[in-house]
Amino acid sequence: MADRKEFVPPKSSEEIEPESGKPHQPRPAISRRDFLVRSNAGAVAVGVLTGAGFAASQTQRPAAPAQATRPPAVVPLKARRVSLDIDRKKYDVNVDVRESLWETLNYQLGLSNCNLGCDRAQCGACAVLVDGKAVNGCSVLTARLGRGQKILTVAGISNGPGLQGLHPVQRAFWLEGGFQCGICTRGFVMASYALLQTNKNPTTADIKEALAGNICRCGEYAKIYSSVKKAAAEMRGERVSYTAPWITEEAITPAAGPVGNTLSKQFEFATPLGTIEQFDDLALELNQKPGIVGVSGTERTITPIWDPTRLDEAGVRRILAEAGHPVRP
Ligand code: FES
Ligand code: FES
Repeated sequence: MADRKEFVPPKSSEEIEPESGKPHQPRPAISRRDFLVRSNAGAVAVGVLTGAGFAASQTQRPAAPAQATRPPAVVPLKARRVSLDIDRKKYDVNVDVRESLWETLNYQLGLSNCNLGCDRAQCGACAVLVDGKAVNGCSVLTARLGRGQKILTVAGISNGPGLQGLHPVQRAFWLEGGFQCGICTRGFVMASYALLQTNKNPTTADIKEALAGNICRCGEYAKIYSSVKKAAAEMRGERVSYTAPWITEEAITPAAGPVGNTLSKQFEFATPLGTIEQFDDLALELNQKPGIVGVSGTERTITPIWDPTRLDEAGVRRILAEAGHPVRP
């Protein structure tokens, strides 16, 4: 009987990475995103990593001729080039295949239009719409969104500056007091917006069902539900009244003046702001300046809206510089 040799798998340090030609260094543990990415790439084997206790999937490499029994190795992670349609604007960007839509929006594009709560598909704070459906931006891989899907955030549903420019859902949350700390609010607004695209007159049960993926830690649900009902009424063309004491008639009456004839432009700060709270303070200051109609932006960019009969671009740049935040040419 021929001698049988027991198969001894090569040590992982002996594996050679095909791209770099260097010895493969195994990762000590695998993240949830790594797991998702590799599962999506056509996983064929599942193992359990000791210690960390995570299930990890691996993609089979073609076997080398001399080592047909070689065990599968981890595929190196890759980047993809995607063309994203966000709020009707195109963005071409390189993304890591592990990158979430929330990460791309915030870290690559400087668009802070959805909040991060749990970062694990539990709270809905990060909800945006993809082709009309609410999804959790923290858990959708950007690499899968480059095929013409329409991504919509809170910034894409308003029509102009100020309270009058808000979408009825946004206005209702604001005027009805459908929020406290606001962490969850953008997610609730987008989930409510998605609901009202298909259901013009939702019952409380419909609203609860549609917003079941969103959690408000402040427990503001009663006001959230009444905000959605008021938004639905406004969208049906009914007159809606809000009773909050801070609401004045001027606040909800369309403003006379330059709203229809404004100019706006996105500028990049010469030095990015430290936090988004700093941006809020700056916006507050700018909104007091004559000729400035509204301001939006992020830590990296600012988009002032101004009345061209009172200001030109040079004047806007001067105001920003005087506020201590000059912008790039
Ligand atoms: S942050 Fe995405 S669901 Fe909580
Ligand atoms: S308003 Fe604070 S979490 Fe909802």
